Amino acid sequence: MFNKLFRKKSNTNEASFNQQKDLVKDECIPAHIAIIMDGNGRWAKKRAMPRIKGHHEGMNTVRKITRYADDLGVKILTLYAFSTENWKRPKIEVDFLMSLPGQFLNSFLPELMERNIRVEMIGDGSTLPAHTQKALQSAIDQTKGNTGLILNFAMNYGSRDEIVRAMKSMMDEVEAGTLSYEDITEERITDYLMTAHLPEPDLLIRTSGEVRLSNFMLWQLAYTEFWFTDTLWPDFDEKCLLEAIRVYQSRNRRYGGLKGEETE
Ligand code: FPP
Repeated sequence: MFNKLFRKKSNTNEASFNQQKDLVKDECIPAHIAIIMDGNGRWAKKRAMPRIKGHHEGMNTVRKITRYADDLGVKILTLYAFSTENWKRPKIEVDFLMSLPGQFLNSFLPELMERNIRVEMIGDGSTLPAHTQKALQSAIDQTKGNTGLILNFAMNYGSRDEIVRAMKSMMDEVEAGTLSYEDITEERITDYLMTAHLPEPDLLIRTSGEVRLSNFMLWQLAYTEFWFTDTLWPDFDEKCLLEAIRVYQSRNRRYGGLKGEETE
């Protein structure tokens, strides 16, 4: 698997990439990686470019990171592409962000098919512009038979909104008599979330130096390992991903309990 990645490297980066690669254990790759892709605006500002140029570059990084994650054997990659709060941005920026799924999927779909990647989405799709919904739905439909990496876009997603919806669905069932007080358990609540069919993320990455969750997967991240980097999303590359995975592999995940000799 690493050879596949290695073949794509230029000679200049080869040595340091190789060092990173050697430190990562092939057998403990996090199955589900979630990423808060932040810093597109600052990337553009540093170059005296409009913010949308940063988002365009961010889209190219999505393409690269999807390939690396797939090559590494990651099973699910959840990307925070647009939050329920992002509507507050200027219209020109929102319009551009809404055009990205179409741009991305139009050009990348053949490779997604070739790689056996399945596109999925969490979030409220119903209020996205028609062209955005169409692009996402078409990719979801075309890739639904694929059995490899799940590329899961969080689009118009907000964790509190997701929890409110879950509570309402549960209330509906209580009122209909199909759910009782005793049925309400952690597992049952999980079933009502948009990620019901997915395992919780093993690793959360946030770029750009911000250290907060910004309403992202609040329930699902309860036992996830976090990794923050100052790197701006458009500059995030395979070395950063390998570094995040290396740090993840050095962590001792205890889920609130103790491990091995610690119990003696
Ligand atoms: C946050 O950076 C980023 C976003 C709100 C958008 C993220 C979207 C992408 C990376 C592209 C998505 C691609 C597809 C295919 C859907 P920011 O704008 O808040 O950056 P700043 O904090 O530096 O201003």
